[in-house]
Amino acid sequence: MRMELVTIRELKSHVGKTVRIGCWLYNKRSSGKIQFLQLRDGTGFVQGVVVKSEVPEDVWEAASRLTQESSLYVTGTVREDARSQSGFELNVTAADIIQIAVDYPITPKEHGVDFLMDHRHLWLRSPRQRAVMVVRAQIIRAVQQFFDDNGFYLVDPPILTPSSCEGTTNLFHTKYFDEDAYLTQSGQLYMEAAAMALGKVYSFGPTFRAEKSKTRRHLIEFWMIEPEMAFVDHEQSLAVQEKFVSHVVQSVLTHCRRELETLGRDVSKLENVLAPFPRITYDDAIALLKERGHAIEWGEDFGAPHETEIAQQFDKPVFITHYPTAIKAFYMKPHPDRPEVVLCADLIAPEGYGEIIGGSERIDDPELMADRFREHELGDEAYKWYLDLRRYGTVPHSGFGLGLERTVAWICGLDHVRETIPFPRLLYRLYP
Ligand code: 4AD
Repeated sequence: MRMELVTIRELKSHVGKTVRIGCWLYNKRSSGKIQFLQLRDGTGFVQGVVVKSEVPEDVWEAASRLTQESSLYVTGTVREDARSQSGFELNVTAADIIQIAVDYPITPKEHGVDFLMDHRHLWLRSPRQRAVMVVRAQIIRAVQQFFDDNGFYLVDPPILTPSSCEGTTNLFHTKYFDEDAYLTQSGQLYMEAAAMALGKVYSFGPTFRAEKSKTRRHLIEFWMIEPEMAFVDHEQSLAVQEKFVSHVVQSVLTHCRRELETLGRDVSKLENVLAPFPRITYDDAIALLKERGHAIEWGEDFGAPHETEIAQQFDKPVFITHYPTAIKAFYMKPHPDRPEVVLCADLIAPEGYGEIIGGSERIDDPELMADRFREHELGDEAYKWYLDLRRYGTVPHSGFGLGLERTVAWICGLDHVRETIPFPRLLYRLYP
């Protein structure tokens, strides 16, 4: 009878026993009498030791034939080994080859980014890329845990939509039979409807922006978490956001130490990410930037260098609040005493990783909302339903959107968002 497979992650509960794992050869060293097989199975990495004098000839031969990324089953005895990354070693007694991989294109030497991106389907197997995906999965788990534990319902907004949410300049157009449709830019408007039905809701789904920007922070397709809360004002929403982001970061620190180590992340920069977060108004941010020699005037939006300069003043994520009404989305509620600014905030990650959250209190007054629709020339059939939300039992409400990939980039300490998602969609890149 075949032995049941054990994963590398489970080896710790099999010390001294003989187990069988399904794995790939990541790397190999040989001293002539001993072969050291670096094996990986997705759950971790372990060294398999094949001693010529201790194994049958065919096992030694099989090990000798192995090339990078060959697939096999390995049987061996689990030994504790403090020096190895997994903490264990396998004393190999049998090796059953599934396939010998010929000419695996990604070798341990350095490759250019374009080459790696063309081979993303294989690049994902590397220890660094695996670590990023493990952290991403943990962030998603922490997000769901936070909202589940805080009384939110998960609601799924549509992906094909008849209208825009964040402006019309970066919509992906498609035909919906005889009608025009767009891939969603944000589920927010639908989440507002859901909040009026369920109180506190959040969505987690793909988002599309046909942005012709080739920066290290922009993806064409990214994943967004969008909570929306009835009877919650701007200030209360900020309190939720800082608790939420702290929870996510601390959860990764608890569960992904090894992955952060693989990525060379300085965890001291994450350990202090605990609520409350500092706040700075847009007005004060403009003054600060001018003081530091930036050519920026009140009324202009911030670019990446501005955000980085502001972030450098703090060692935690910082909220920039109360942006000018004219540069923000149509649905944001004006400040009651200063209608030229809105009750909104962007959360800027430390160390130059840029904006990770955009959020606001929403306009709840039906007259003002109708005015905004006229000003923004949105007054067509596609939004009729949205105005109903202000007509039938309108209430104060707030929400925000966290970009998953920018959050992964920050927590993992990655320069570019292309490594934060399994198959990135970037400007001019749709392959693989
Ligand atoms: O600031 P944004 O555009 O906000 C909204 O879409 C709101 N409707 C959200 C809401 O209130 N429900 O986007 C929110 C976040 C940004 O802070 C950023 O993290 C991420 O989404 N994001 C992007 N991430 C990667 N690539 C892009 N092109 C992104 N655009 C926005």
